[in-house]
Amino acid sequence: MNHTPQRYTITAALPYTNGPLHIGHLAGVYQPADIYARYQRLQNKEVAFICGSDEHGVAISMKAKKEGVSPQEIIDKYHAIIKKSFVDFGISFDNYSRTSAQIHHETASEFFKKLYEEGKFIEETTEQLYDQEAEQFLADRFVVGTCPKCGFEESYGDQCESCGTSHNATDLIAPKSAITGTKPVLKETKHWFLPLDRYESFLKEWILEGHQKDWKPNVYGQCKSWIDDGLRPRAVTRDLDWGIPVPVEGGEGKVLYVWFDAPIGYISATKEWAAREGKDWEPYWKGEDTKLLHFIGKDNIVFHCIIFPAMLKAEGTYTLPDNVPANEFLNLEGNKISTSKNWAVWLHEYLKEFPNQQDVLRYALTANAPETKDNDFTWADFQARNNSELVAIFGNFINRVTVLTQKYYDGTVPEPGPLSEVDSKTLQELRAYPAVIASSLERYRFREALQELMNVARLGNKYLADEEPWKTIKTDALRTQTVMNVALQIASALAILSEPFLPFTSEKLKKMLRIKEQKATPTWNEVSKEQALLAAGHGIGKSELLFSKIEDEQIQHQLDKLQKSKTDNEIANRVVDLQKETITFDDFTKLDLRVGEIIEAEKMPKTKKLLVLKVDTGIDVRTIVSGIAESFSPEEVIGKKVTVLVNLAPRALRGVESEGMILMTEDSNGKLVFVNPDAKGVTNGTTIN
Ligand code: 2FM
Ligand code: ZN
Repeated sequence: MNHTPQRYTITAALPYTNGPLHIGHLAGVYQPADIYARYQRLQNKEVAFICGSDEHGVAISMKAKKEGVSPQEIIDKYHAIIKKSFVDFGISFDNYSRTSAQIHHETASEFFKKLYEEGKFIEETTEQLYDQEAEQFLADRFVVGTCPKCGFEESYGDQCESCGTSHNATDLIAPKSAITGTKPVLKETKHWFLPLDRYESFLKEWILEGHQKDWKPNVYGQCKSWIDDGLRPRAVTRDLDWGIPVPVEGGEGKVLYVWFDAPIGYISATKEWAAREGKDWEPYWKGEDTKLLHFIGKDNIVFHCIIFPAMLKAEGTYTLPDNVPANEFLNLEGNKISTSKNWAVWLHEYLKEFPNQQDVLRYALTANAPETKDNDFTWADFQARNNSELVAIFGNFINRVTVLTQKYYDGTVPEPGPLSEVDSKTLQELRAYPAVIASSLERYRFREALQELMNVARLGNKYLADEEPWKTIKTDALRTQTVMNVALQIASALAILSEPFLPFTSEKLKKMLRIKEQKATPTWNEVSKEQALLAAGHGIGKSELLFSKIEDEQIQHQLDKLQKSKTDNEIANRVVDLQKETITFDDFTKLDLRVGEIIEAEKMPKTKKLLVLKVDTGIDVRTIVSGIAESFSPEEVIGKKVTVLVNLAPRALRGVESEGMILMTEDSNGKLVFVNPDAKGVTNGTTIN
């Protein structure tokens, strides 16, 4: 792009409709995208902020299979939940569409047909993995196996979640069907491939030479490694029954690969929006003065930087992305966020527990966003961000200004007197902030931008603390008017500049200050100008608290909830032996179980597993041979209280007669542990029943 763009097409990764949204989604993709889109709108740019549900692909089919319902039921359910979360958190999409929409099916089909007709695909019959039991080909997530690159044993067929590498299912080592668990066989099938190798020189020039400086190092690095490894043709069709039918001869029973259709979803969603708004969609995808940006998570880099651009290049009429500001991942309390393990903070659940506190989460997530490396969300950090920053800095400043304005001037902005040097300097500093924040945002540094926003509140707090209007009110009325007027300008600037980051707070504050009730409503660029943002004589509204303290109990409740889902998950995944046949009470009473104590122990010569123990059973001291030598040394077990079955018929082990059995079990790591009923103070020989 050589000239200043007038138009921005901002896309955010289409979420799969196979589960609700969690904080990782918000922090990684949707929040930075939303901040950026809101900011560009404030710059009076034409913005199309586009997203929608990704409703094809194996992730959806698998979820449907697991729940025993149709894929349509799954996508309808989660599309509604996801869409609502976006609205609830103020993610300001111009259009939130879905890939099951007719316009998308048409757009993706036409795109495919055009490339097909222009000979841009290779048609090839190859051997693909096939599950004989399920009678279906295993694409993408339907197959798991060992990643050929990093050795991760649970890699999907199309992508390894551990190292992020994208591969073909046939590349997996020891593949297994995710449907039946069986070993797949190879079976011939015809597919269409996009020959990525033909786009190598284009990609080299466009990314490696063209975007080395402006793309984030993590994004550039992944692209470079892909290109350096050599690009291979990639199948863009699949043998599945859920997806967009392959619209050409020979495509019966096949669908488009989800990663072929999903990014085209950005185009379809733009078309849908433009039709609704009476606009022309094409400039947003083909205009010279349009900047196309894809906001995504790091696992989507290859699809947005290599495959989709190669598709666009093959089609020939589209703009290429100007930047792909991908984020890394957000962890939660030290562990990877996991939908299947329920290790997540779900957006819809958060709102139930912290009603109307969307901006607190927005703030904490942006302040701690995984921009350059994976980051950790902790509830303690969330609480501190709220209590020590939003409440103590931002909220405190606004509260002081509005309460004092009500108290001293009945809510009317006072006429300022002559400005002191401090006043002028403060206002000058204030007027620099729009450019400072903008500069961070233009470079996709959202954490830094948020810091600068908070510096506006800090500037206000310092100004009030230094000028002390609560003191001068007793001695110097004009000086107090000036100070309060300046403070009100800072408060107004905060209302305006916070909009991209904290839209709910910004709105509340604008209402409180009645900013929009002035003749001309000031916006972002007016903050840099000399003209007052709130004119003298303007009346502000009642003071209300913007933020409130989050108590330790609320945080503890969240931590307990996480702990519970961890425990529940462990229980759900526990593998236990089946219950044995029922026995009668009389059968049970035949067992003579006693508390005993190991008093001597030595290894059984020439064995690995056996220890020869002398056990005080209370009845006598007897020899018991126990297979615990791999878990315990003889020294470790001496003095241990144990549970002994004393009336077990004696039997000889390696020539030593064993007169009973010590009860053992295993911990979750497979290590043996003694079953001793907390028996420290119990006399040896006491019966257990
Ligand atoms: O990783 C994902 O969740 C995908 N559904 C993202 C798709 S982005 C786009 F290309 F549509
Ligand atoms: Zn891997």
